[in-house]
This record gives sequence, structure tokens and C-alpha cells, in this order.
Amino acid sequence: MEKIIDENKQGQPLVLDQEKENQRKLFIESYGCQMNFSDSEIVASILAKEGFNTTQNLEDADLVLVNTCSIREKAEQTVRKRLEKYNAVKKINPGMKVGVLGCMAERLKSKFLEEEKIVDLVVGPDAYKDLPNLIEEVDAGRNAVNVILSKEETYGDISPVRLQSNGVSAFVSITRGCDNMCTFCVVPFTRGRERSRDPQSIMEEINELATQNFKEITLLGQNVDSYLWYGGGLKKDFEKASDFQKATAVNFAKLLDMVAEKHPKLRLRFTTSNPQDMTLDVIEVMAKHKNICKYIHLPIQSGSDRILKEMNRLHTRQEYFDLIDNIKRIIPDCAISQDIITGFPTETEDDHKDTLSLMEYVKYDYGFMFAYSERPGTLAARKMEDDIPEPVKKRRLAEIIEAQRKHSAYRHQSFVGQTVEVLIEKASKKSDAHWSGRTTQNTVAVFPKGDYKIGDFVMVKINECTSATLLGDAVGYSDNN
Ligand code: SAH
Ligand code: F3S
Repeated sequence: MEKIIDENKQGQPLVLDQEKENQRKLFIESYGCQMNFSDSEIVASILAKEGFNTTQNLEDADLVLVNTCSIREKAEQTVRKRLEKYNAVKKINPGMKVGVLGCMAERLKSKFLEEEKIVDLVVGPDAYKDLPNLIEEVDAGRNAVNVILSKEETYGDISPVRLQSNGVSAFVSITRGCDNMCTFCVVPFTRGRERSRDPQSIMEEINELATQNFKEITLLGQNVDSYLWYGGGLKKDFEKASDFQKATAVNFAKLLDMVAEKHPKLRLRFTTSNPQDMTLDVIEVMAKHKNICKYIHLPIQSGSDRILKEMNRLHTRQEYFDLIDNIKRIIPDCAISQDIITGFPTETEDDHKDTLSLMEYVKYDYGFMFAYSERPGTLAARKMEDDIPEPVKKRRLAEIIEAQRKHSAYRHQSFVGQTVEVLIEKASKKSDAHWSGRTTQNTVAVFPKGDYKIGDFVMVKINECTSATLLGDAVGYSDNN
């Protein structure tokens, strides 16, 4: 099951092709959402031009960079633990420099240098182009910090180097930042204002990936449905745009349509959709193109109208149901997944039951469920007491996870007996004799390898399933090869 947060990838160091003339060694690892993993590919690309080759050995590194996540307290604790580990290594290799990138860098700024003596360099998500200067500072023996957020930076002009890639699927970011200000969420503070990337540079990156034989592209953003390009500028200033800019503007439906049209053999996915911004034209474009995967990640967070309001999610339970009904009407086989938070401040047993009954209505294919974690600086932290006791949060979370397990099993069961298209990505973790890939619905399917290879689109007859995986046999190539 792959989403923004792929637990298997957490902390995996990135390795690039080695360039002979590069003398210094960079160890870079990433935590958190897919955007961080993508950003690390941009950082590695910038540093390759500064004389750095990547290494997987922490002990060998001249520079260690950790791309960090602040979304929940636990994510930050993980990074603090890694810093302890770097500290131990620094005792053996005193010349090693340590830099913190990403959301935690942005949230803590220069405080990091006081709290964690081991850190030499603190760089926020919009300041990666300044890394060469910052590293010079560090080389001269000074600490360096750049946490300035930008209204324009999209790194559209930097071609990321694909790291640890299976050569089949790649992520392309289309928006950065978020303007939604959900009251629990730290992202608007750590990643700044929402901005969209020039569609021309998005297209060029995708064309290049297609040339390199990639088979699946995921368009990435905190809130992709909000994508809007009218020649640059923030979305909130669109009203002030000229008539020409308005007439030639590209919204998310149009962008999807353009990419799908240009590359009919490329599978397209996108994440994340926010219910308040997802429009019918996006669903219609999905239905129109066979190559747009029939899967929508549509976080709900809570099934209670009162809690949705406290969270500043700008839609009601009923509006969400209407959206789900529309999706199912226009794309009957569309898979839907959720994010849910349990134990948001003031959540009652009745609110929790509303979440369970909402899940019962939608019967999500997958879900990503979390206990509320208060984040300093957010509106909820400032205005509301974190008043739901930990054991209650945990119990509600367990109930939600159990409901999801049942629904996933129910959804997966419906594929048994069907023959579905699977794009092969890698060998199965459990058996080297089996391939693992995903269906258009994003469900993992596993089957005996036969003569097929990674990157093939294969028709697979599904014989049985677990709550997370479909098991079957390949019956031939699909017509998409
Ligand atoms: N729009 C973003 C959301 C990023 S955060 C996206 O691209 O998915 C991912 C999920 O983390 C959120 O949907 C929410 O369910 C969860 N989350 C965010 N802040 C949280 C907090 N303070 N406590 C617990 N979970 C949180
Ligand atoms: Fe966070 Fe809400 Fe944006 S969850 S990333 S503020 S849509």
C-alpha cells in the first residue's frame, strides 16, 4: 500500500550514480511524506554540481543531511534519535558536518542549533538553492541557517535525479505549500503559501521520464486539486489577473487532461485531494482517460460536522457524501482511501461514532489513521486544550483501524475471480519467485514471475486476497505495453 507516507522508505539513504570528479561524500536520508523524498532528489541534484557523491555509509560521509517531518510529535522524535546516532559517528569522524532540512528545520529554525549542538546547518524547504553558499559557511567553521519561505519557489528549473528508483514509477511535484489552514496541521507553517508550478516545466519533466521508460507518474502536492497556473503568482491573487491570464489559466482538471492526452501509455496518479477543492471536472477527466488510475486519496479526518468545523475543514459530512456519490456514479470502480484523526480536542463518543458510521457508508479501500498529536503554533494548539486522554485516543484509533481492516477485506474480496491489469514494480517482499505490482485501484497484487519483467503491464487473474494484498496468476500481457 503506497501513499504519501511509505513506512518502508522512512530513513532510507539515497544513492546516486557516482561522478568521478566529485570528491566529497554526502549521506542524505528522508523522513515523512513523499514530498520530502522528492525534495531530497532536488537537493542531491544541486549538490552533485558542488562536488558531492552520495554514499550509503554514514561513517564515510563528509556531509550528513536529514530531511525531516513535523506532522506528528513522533516524527520529530525519530529525527532526534537519528541525530544521536550522527553524534556517535561524529566522534569517530570529527570532520563530518550535519545539516537538517525540511519541516522540522523550518519549524525550529535557529533554535535547532541551541537544542542540538551537533547540527551545523539548518535549511527550510524553500531554501535548497542556497545550499552551496550555506555549505561554504559551514566549511569556514560557522553555523548556517536559511529558513526563508518563498511565494514563488517551485524548483521547476531543477531536474531531480531519481534516487533509489525502480525505474517504473516516479513522483512529479506540481504544487508546494498549503493555504488551507486546517487547525491541527503544521504544514502551512513549515511549507509556506500554496504555489503552483509552471505546466510547461511539469510537461517537460514528464516527457523526460517517459523517454526514460518510466511507466507511472504520480503528480504530487499537499492539495493537488487547488492547482492553478495563470503565469505565476499566488492563487488568492487570481482575481486580480488580466482577462488574458484568466482565459489561458490551467487548473488541475486541465493539467491532468493535458498530461493524460500526451502520454496515453503512462499511468497517471495524483495525491493528495482535499474534498473541499475536488471538483466534478477532475472526476470527469479521470473517467475520460483510461490511463488515469481509478483511485482517489480523499482524507476526511472526522465524520462529525462539529469536529470538521473545529478542524477548519471547509466542507460538511453531507457534502463529502455527495462527492463520494458523484465519484461512484461517474467512476463505479474507483477506489477511495482516507486519512482520519482520532481524539481531536473536544471529540465526544458521539463524534467518534459519526466517524465510524461515515466509514461504514464509504467503505474505503484503504486508510491512514492517526491519534491527534498537538503541534506547537497551530490554531488548535493555541485555542484548544488537547483534552482527550491518550487511552481514549488509542481505543478510538483501534476501533477505526478495525473498521478499516474489515472494509479493506470487503473491497479486496470483490476483486477475487476478476482479471485485472497490474504494473510490475518489484519482486514480492515475501517471495523472490513472485512479482509485486499495483492495479489501477492502487491495490497491491502478487503473482508468480513467469517470463514477465519489471515495468510490464500484465493481466492477472485474482484467485484470493488478504486484507492488504491480491494474489493471482498472470494470464498474458495487457494491451498497454
Ligand atoms: N494535504 C496533505 C496532508 C498532509 S498531512 C497531504 O498531502 O496528504 C497527512 C495526514 O496527517 C493528514 O491528512 C492528517 O490525517 C494527519 N495529520 C496532520 N496533522 C496531524 C496532527 N496534528 N495529528 C495527527 N495527525 C495529523
Ligand atoms: Fe495540512 Fe489541511 Fe493543508 S491537512 S497540508 S493544512 S489541507
